Formats: sequence, C-alpha cells, structure tokens
Amino acid sequence: MKRYVMLAAAALVLAAPAARAQGTVSVLCSVQLEWCQAVSAEFTRLTGIRVAMVNKGSGETFAQLKAEAANPKTDLWFGGTGDPHLQAAEENLTEVYKSPRMGDLHPWAVKQAEDSGFKTVGIYAGALGFGYNPELGKKKNIALPKCWSDLLNPALKGDIQVANPASSGTAYTMIATLVQVMGEDKAFDYMKRLHPNIGAYTRSGVAPIKAAARGETLVSISFIHDGVTEAKAGFPMATATPCEGTGYEVGSISIVKGARNLDAARKMVDWALSVEGQSHMPKAGAFQVPSNRNAPLPPEAPKLSEIKLIAYDFKKYGSSAERRRLLDKWEKEVNSLPR
Ligand code: G6P
Repeated sequence: MKRYVMLAAAALVLAAPAARAQGTVSVLCSVQLEWCQAVSAEFTRLTGIRVAMVNKGSGETFAQLKAEAANPKTDLWFGGTGDPHLQAAEENLTEVYKSPRMGDLHPWAVKQAEDSGFKTVGIYAGALGFGYNPELGKKKNIALPKCWSDLLNPALKGDIQVANPASSGTAYTMIATLVQVMGEDKAFDYMKRLHPNIGAYTRSGVAPIKAAARGETLVSISFIHDGVTEAKAGFPMATATPCEGTGYEVGSISIVKGARNLDAARKMVDWALSVEGQSHMPKAGAFQVPSNRNAPLPPEAPKLSEIKLIAYDFKKYGSSAERRRLLDKWEKEVNSLPR
C-alpha cells in the first residue's frame, strides 16, 4: 500500500516555480500518516509556508534521496528511524544545520546530531517490541509473547508480521537489535527460524501492528508506541518488550543537500524541535518520547526507563557499509528461504 499524501494546494504551488520560491517546503515524511498530516497543517497555519508532503518509509526515503541526489526535489526528511538518516549524512545526501533549539534536547537527540556531523538530529525516541491482539490470542489460545524466543513457537506459524527491512526502518532496527542482543551468527540463525512464522513482510513499518489491531495477524514486531495509537483508536491491542532486551530508535529530521527551500526547511527543523512542535504529537496519535526536554510526555506513552534497552550502537548500525551489508545478508539468507 502506497502512503501518499499530497496536499492539493501545495501540489498546485509546486507546479508553479515562481510561487514555490516564496514559501513552500517539500517534505518526505516517515512517521505515521496522521502525524505527517498534522505536521503539514500546523506548520502552514503557524508560518504561512505551504507543505508538499509525501509519506514514505525510512528505507524508501533514503533510497529516494540517493536516487535524487544529482537533482534534489525534496527539502526536508521528517522523522523515521535514525539509522538511515545517519547513512544519508555519511553519503553526503543531507546538509549541516545546528538549530538554536539544540540546547533544549535530551542527550540522545544531541548525540544523533554529533554522530552525523550535525546533518541530522533526534526528534523522538521509541522502543521496539511486540504488538498482540488479545481477542485473537484468546481464540487461538496463544499468550502475549514476552521474549524474542517466544516468537519461534511453531503454533505462531504464519501469524506474525514484520516489515521488510529494505523499505522500513522499523524492520532494520529489528535486525540491528537482534545482532546486538544475540551476536550476528545466532541472530541470523534466529531470523531463519522465525521466517516460517512470518505471514507477511510488509512495506511500511507501522502496517504489521495495524494488521494485529484489526485481527489480520496475531503478533507484530513493531515500535510499541504504535500500540498506544491503536489502543486509543479502540482496537484490541497489548504490547510487550522482549525479556532478552530490545533496541530503540532515535527518530530524526534532516535537511536535504541542495534543498531549494533551505530557509523554510530550517524553520521546519526549529519548529519540529520546539516544545510547540512536539506537544501536538499525541493529538495526532503519536506517542513517541519527544526529544525536547520540556515537551510533555503523554501519560499513555511507553516509558523508556521501564524497558530493558540495549546500548544500541547507532554509529555502527547507521553506517553505510554496515546497513547495506546487513540488508544484503538478510535478503540472501533469510528472505530468499521458502516459507
Ligand atoms: C512508525 C513509528 C515511528 C517510526 C516509523 C518508521 O511511524 O511510529 O516511530 O519512526 O514508523 O517507519 P518505517 O516504515 O520506516 O518502519
């Protein structure tokens, strides 16, 4: 399913180059569609700058920016997992920018900026875990999985969904997490054994938990804040984080190198890092941990301090060579196996 959102007005402006230079920003947005839409509307309301927005997964956005490098059509990459933002920085696809808001941020968000030579910065964080449909679980008599090892239960054959790591940052976070938790050989052995239990590798990272919420699959491998979104929308949903430990994302924002609307892109970064820019997240159904220390953490949001998080090595797993190597290996050794 392609997740395109083109604001009609913005599309008209894009077609008119003269108007474009006076206050349009072209954004690839890798968070939930509802949040992307809220970002566009709110930013335009506050600044008068029109937003042309396309909603795409983190891996897909990285690939698009790489393909467009000689003639960039995008000004800003809003959200999505931090690893491909770091890869984009390393491959010189993004622009250095030190926002005046930098001093207001949590250390993990600043570290993301430092690791990239200030070509990206953290806007939120979220932990990886499992989504589970309790109603379906009761019918099938299968309990909420609590550990990575529980997902290998043969009774779960075809009943787990996760995204494809080439298009989705969520799924790449899973690979990098498993490698860090188990060591590479054991992690790939684990993913091969998990493969028969995967009913579908979806394109977008959020699709599996939406499927679980709607009873189309029992379990998803997802960021657990996406479970809060589904539960608040009234769907049956429970989440857990794996007992062996789990990884997390530093969702990031980057200005594209050669952005035609650089000033507008910088304004959007400043706003996205501000208390105002982050306070509207829960209203848009987004329950990540905001990176601004003064932005309120909604009571429903998962508390990272209560989760067994690994010391995720963003520098290593966000490096170009490592991300490409792990994705190739997954494609060759896991995805090519029959299910
Ligand atoms: C969801 C999550 C975000 C995450 C994004 C990654 O929207 O709420 O926290 O950054 O997925 O999307 P992707 O499709 O790249 O896995």
